[in-house]
Amino acid sequence: MNKSMSKVRDASSSYQNNHSIKGEKLIYPAANRNKEPILQVLKRFILSEAESIDDDDERPIFLEIASGSGQHLAHFAPHFPGVKFQPSEIDENLFGSIIYYAVNCSTKNMCQPILIDICNKLSYYGFTESSIDYMYNANMLHISPFNCTVGLFENAGTYLKTEALLVTYGPFSRDGVITPQSNIDFDASLRASDPSWGIRDINDLIKLGEENNLTLIDTIEMPSNNKTLIWKRN
Ligand SMILES: C[S@@+](CC[C@H](N)C(=O)[O-])C[C@H]1O[C@@H](n2cnc3c(N)ncnc32)[C@H](O)[C@@H]1O
Repeated sequence: MNKSMSKVRDASSSYQNNHSIKGEKLIYPAANRNKEPILQVLKRFILSEAESIDDDDERPIFLEIASGSGQHLAHFAPHFPGVKFQPSEIDENLFGSIIYYAVNCSTKNMCQPILIDICNKLSYYGFTESSIDYMYNANMLHISPFNCTVGLFENAGTYLKTEALLVTYGPFSRDGVITPQSNIDFDASLRASDPSWGIRDINDLIKLGEENNLTLIDTIEMPSNNKTLIWKRN
């Protein structure tokens, strides 16, 4: 494997074979690198009036799909003490790490993880339609079959409140073109691992958004050739 290939594979390999079922925290190197740039984007889109809401049940809910280690929400939650951060994962082996971060959250607004397979309807997990204030998903769309992308958009289009936001982060292509070469290599390595994986194209996501009442309102270039896409529920 050449140097650039080993660098691009870091993004997928650093997430694999890391299980914490006994409550010890996991530290994904990629999450450590990208959590602060993502936070800076979120600060532009998360409303801060929530801090004055006293009733816990009335606080805006920020649902993360595919929390992995739990590092992202642990980093975000103290910056938005009025928002309730709900982690979720399909892989229960990661719950120990997410619980570690939730228990140690200084502002106590990071909840215990719940099991969610985003290919299922969120009603299956007790959510009601038009009830969620923010949905967030990082680094899952390219490392899962396309039906997970469909599931994320269908659920966001149904369970987000009107005008609420879906935030997706990761590598994306545009007009069928992947840039730069490191992302082309990354895409090839993903598809070699599993032909149903691969970097998703923004145009396909826009179409999926249109079918699910979601409009792309902002595309933010991020470090390491990633993007944050902001979607608003119509
Ligand atoms: C590369 S990790 C990203 C973790 C975290 N979001 C981050 O950026 O550090 C991808 C995650 O997607 C989760 N995942 C895969 N398929 C899923 C599905 N159908 N529903 C929910 N999560 C899924 C995996 O369990 C894994 O934790």
